[in-house]
Amino acid sequence: MAFYEPLRSFELHMPSRVLFGINYVEKIGVEAKRFGAAKVLVVTDKGVSKTGTPERVRALLANEGLSAEVWDNAETEPSISSVVGLRDHIMKGGFDLLIGLGGGSCMDMAKAAAVLSRNEGDPEDYFSGGKREFAKPGIPCITIPTTAGTGAEITWDAVVKDKTGIKAVYEHTYIMPTLAIVDPTMSASMPPRLTASSGIDALSHAIESSLTKFTNPITFALALQSIQLISSNLRKAVYQPNNLETRYNMALATLTEAFSEMNAGDIEAHGFGHLIGSVYRIPHGIACGIALPHAMEHNILVTSDRLAAIAEAMGVDTTGMTLKQAANSAVDAVAELIEDVGLPTTLQEVGVRREDLPKLAEQAVTIPWIKVMFSYAIRDMTKELALEFLEEIYGEENPLVS
Ligand SMILES: [Fe+2]
Repeated sequence: MAFYEPLRSFELHMPSRVLFGINYVEKIGVEAKRFGAAKVLVVTDKGVSKTGTPERVRALLANEGLSAEVWDNAETEPSISSVVGLRDHIMKGGFDLLIGLGGGSCMDMAKAAAVLSRNEGDPEDYFSGGKREFAKPGIPCITIPTTAGTGAEITWDAVVKDKTGIKAVYEHTYIMPTLAIVDPTMSASMPPRLTASSGIDALSHAIESSLTKFTNPITFALALQSIQLISSNLRKAVYQPNNLETRYNMALATLTEAFSEMNAGDIEAHGFGHLIGSVYRIPHGIACGIALPHAMEHNILVTSDRLAAIAEAMGVDTTGMTLKQAANSAVDAVAELIEDVGLPTTLQEVGVRREDLPKLAEQAVTIPWIKVMFSYAIRDMTKELALEFLEEIYGEENPLVS
């Protein structure tokens, strides 16, 4: 079996430093001091603020003599105007160290604003597939995730909605945080729905990054490890939220898939997930989860061997199965997990109208960033295939409802 192209060459991006451990948030003061910063800005949102964690971080910084301000205006799925607002606040306030504390949106806002504060011109010009590349590194940025799923704590991308409201991405080595402090106790207070959707986002990264043109021996090994951890821990994390060992394993699974996803990319589930999520304001993990089983099915004809390995990582006994049967069993195992954690499985459940599908198919093959994602996939995407894909995940119409 060939899990990646023979004699594959590759480039690996690794974050500069990760500290992973129970109660490691306590290290923030000492670690921040090593940067020699004069003014620290903690970037977070109102929801995280309510938990008291930003204040705890500010106090830990103060214990080391560091002056810090908490800025809790981060938006869920941030827009370019809110990122520009943060950039202006950083520049006006003379901050020289950022801490992105929260879920993917808080961390992505901090990562993007840190680099934009050192690079002039229209911020939209720097989007992936855009006119310019960042010329200078940003101010140092530390991430502390309070959820387990996005991988934003280490990745080199930051998702931001452009002026039209469609998601775009900054993707550059300068976007990578300088330090990630991953403390599994931080995600212990995540509500079940968020645990489920962020866990499925992580699963989607792990599986998609196993199925791209850029999958290599290292990313594939990491992705399988992540898939194994998620499939054996996500149900418990949702239904036994106080089980710390499960939170530890989900935080570890997220970190592991993030290495894989950052280096091998995502494919159809994130391509369609980002599109649907942007247009209908559906939480990211839910939107990707709806597309994930069909994205796997869509790839069976070209990567059944990798999908068979995924089935085994998910605990399926594939003895006696053909490769194609084993690949199909991976699709079933993923669909079952998504259902078990209580997430929607079709577009109609989240309010997408059938008559919107042709327009969505058109957008899927014309929006630059989504095109970039499809270009990582082994199969080419066309408008016709995109429409078929969307019809497939739309779900069966209920004949009793007119
Ligand atoms: Fe994602």
